[in-house]
Amino acid sequence: MCRRRSSSHNNSINFPTIMASISLIISLVFVLGSQFSLAQNPDLQTYIVRLSDQGVDRNILRDRGSRESWLTSLLSAVVAGIDHKLRVRHFYHRVFPGFVVQLTHEELEALKKMKGFVSAWPERSLHLRTTYSPKFLGLQQNQGFWQSSNYGQGIIIGVLDSGIAADHPSFGDEGMPAPPAKWKGGCQVIQCNNKLIGAKTFIADDNDPLDQEGHGTHVAGIAAGNFVAGANVFGIIANGTAAGIAPRAHLAMYKVCTAKSCFDGDILAGIDAAIADGVDVLSLSLGNDSLRPFHEDSIAIGTFSAVQTGVFVSTAPANSGPGFGSITDNVAPWVLTVGASNMDRKLRANVILGNNQGFYGESVYQPKNSPATQLPLVYLRKLNPNDPDAPFCNSSRSLTNSNIGGKIVLCMMGTTGNSVVGKMVNDAGGAGMILMNDQTEDYTMDVRNYFLPASHVNFEAGQKIINYVNTAPNPTAQINFKGTVFDRDPHAPAVASFSGRGPSPVSPGILKPDIVGPGVNILAAWPFSIEGNSGTTANFNILSGTSMACPHLSGVAALLKSSHPDWSPAAIKSAMMTTANPRNIGNQRIEDQTRNPADFFAVGAGHVMSNTANHPGLIYDIRSDDYIKYLCGLGYTDEQVRKTVSAPVIRCGTLGSIPEAQLNYPSFSIRMTTTSPESSTQTVTRTVRNVGRFDETYNVQVIQPNGVQMVVEPTTFFLQINQQFTYRVTFTRSSGTTTSGPRFHQGALIWNSESGRHSVRSPIMVEFY
Ligand SMILES: *[C@@H]1O[C@H](CO)[C@@H](O)[C@H](O)[C@H]1NC(C)=O
Ligand SMILES: *[C@@H]1O[C@H](CO)[C@@H](O)[C@H](O)[C@H]1NC(C)=O
Ligand SMILES: *[C@@H]1O[C@H](CO)[C@@H](O)[C@H](O)[C@H]1NC(C)=O
Repeated sequence: MCRRRSSSHNNSINFPTIMASISLIISLVFVLGSQFSLAQNPDLQTYIVRLSDQGVDRNILRDRGSRESWLTSLLSAVVAGIDHKLRVRHFYHRVFPGFVVQLTHEELEALKKMKGFVSAWPERSLHLRTTYSPKFLGLQQNQGFWQSSNYGQGIIIGVLDSGIAADHPSFGDEGMPAPPAKWKGGCQVIQCNNKLIGAKTFIADDNDPLDQEGHGTHVAGIAAGNFVAGANVFGIIANGTAAGIAPRAHLAMYKVCTAKSCFDGDILAGIDAAIADGVDVLSLSLGNDSLRPFHEDSIAIGTFSAVQTGVFVSTAPANSGPGFGSITDNVAPWVLTVGASNMDRKLRANVILGNNQGFYGESVYQPKNSPATQLPLVYLRKLNPNDPDAPFCNSSRSLTNSNIGGKIVLCMMGTTGNSVVGKMVNDAGGAGMILMNDQTEDYTMDVRNYFLPASHVNFEAGQKIINYVNTAPNPTAQINFKGTVFDRDPHAPAVASFSGRGPSPVSPGILKPDIVGPGVNILAAWPFSIEGNSGTTANFNILSGTSMACPHLSGVAALLKSSHPDWSPAAIKSAMMTTANPRNIGNQRIEDQTRNPADFFAVGAGHVMSNTANHPGLIYDIRSDDYIKYLCGLGYTDEQVRKTVSAPVIRCGTLGSIPEAQLNYPSFSIRMTTTSPESSTQTVTRTVRNVGRFDETYNVQVIQPNGVQMVVEPTTFFLQINQQFTYRVTFTRSSGTTTSGPRFHQGALIWNSESGRHSVRSPIMVEFY
């Protein structure tokens, strides 16, 4: 999701009039007008119902219509007297057989007794969570991986979001081939082209897949926007040729969210359609932010089916960082969980104080004719000590009482959107604003459109400026705009303060997030013209959030899939993770918002390196059965596992279960109690496959976590092309480690090929509990 607190877009909606031309009837979506009168019946609740088609005549299952008749016949038996169809919003075919339906408690109980019933859970609401970023990932036109992967040609990325501004140049189809023959999707209301090959809405009472929000357009543009020259905001900021990460991939938009919210009944319908349509990659920048076991989590359930059919799924964790364990959802091992980092592109707006002290700041809005002269600087906390809102500049009373006309106002970041604050200061006559990060954001600069000359500074700079204001007799400041600067900042990429942190409470034995990608100040397509932004041919906007990081990785997945059509979703993920860079431009460990090294709960395997991911050497693959054994090992009952995955019957006892750490994951999360002697040693195995072009000898390099002795057996192996090899890792707790010592210890296991071609790195987190 993009960061709500600082996003504001009260923009004029500016759609062309060509929309209502073609109207396709989508048989999948049952949007029924009478639903809202039904919703007023207080006894009815919306449930997602999963059924099993075990034992049902194959002829019935073959065709969509007869499947739906079969599904409704089950309903008819329990819903008396009223047309059951009025209660069903969507039927599901590919995620699992089932529907989202309104039922009374009694009807639900009766349905539970029907043959074929698997599970039912209440519908839940969720919410939504780049000119320079491709280059930052090492992608350049007519070179390297972009060229060798054909810019993602032939791959279809499905985006579940708020719809799309179909007429935006980023979704023009210049240079695009026709969609592959396997494609079964289409467009509703709007006309498809060879870039945008699918666009449908799954929201009740919504008529078109158009984007009234902006988020879906932005996210789709990041993943696969076509090349657009001269993309920028306000003419100069972040100017360059905009392109998505996979500019030659096709896009399909599944509209499942409005500006307000999304419902998982619609999201499942979107995933269901995406699987049936034939997408290769799914991008989900949405979530609920609350903990839920996988068997009660529609996204975990729906994406399992998608991954099982070979679809790669990229997701955004909550923007609830930087707290420990703030990563709550989208943490299933079959999806990629992408944290957000910044880039070294700065939108420079520097502050010079009256005493000549200078500070780096940033701003999206940099008016060309802004006078760079010293102006009086005011801090409302000083003038209105009794107004608790005064320092945040979100109190109109303080603003109007303080005679800020012609002055620069110093404001603290609060919970009010920072564009909103800028507008308030502007409306109250302020000549400029210096916006200071709070301690939580620290060095993460998430800049917006402030509607007046402004400079957004980090926490440290803010503290110094406050000190100056409080001590100087006549404080003054000026703001100098420097436009877009690429400064090879040694601190970039750094994990953003808002990016959700592990460990994941749902499955602490899987290290999450998996990886980080650009998610701070990302320029991409936007449906509306931004206030004050005139004279540009196409609309772009700058947003921050894990929502923006996720589609970057969806794009990289498309490039990898185009380059390696036979790789499974797990193989693609492994290639991304084992080649990710744990170091920043300054060749130090990647930092977090505090400028201290980020731990693996913030950065995962590191920053995505798309070129290297194309040649990982080895991959860790995972089959569907392995995930089922893993779910058994999580302590789920047979019934709970069956609710999560599609299999007619699950018997963990027969299948066998594995501990989380034994899943063939490209990272390690090892948990050991300090109280039981049996758990002082743990052995796990991993299996790698040589996907390189040569037979290779690999040697192990171990970075030992503190508190344990880690032994890898063997320490070297020779592997022919396409052959597999299994190695063992034994972790033994060092004597003397107790619960009073540090709980978490980091290390790494790296397989280096003797040829020097490959270095296959897995991060390791060891927890004592
Ligand atoms: C999560 O789901 C619950 C139940 O539908 C809802 O009340 C809550 O607002 C949702 N949270 C978010 C952040 O969407
Ligand atoms: C913006 O970039 C385009 C190329 O994409 C270039 O032609 C144009 O001159 C640039 N504009 C400014 C104001 O730098
Ligand atoms: C102003 O911001 C502060 C700090 O985030 C917040 O507690 C307060 O509720 C806000 N006041 C208004 C009027 O929005």
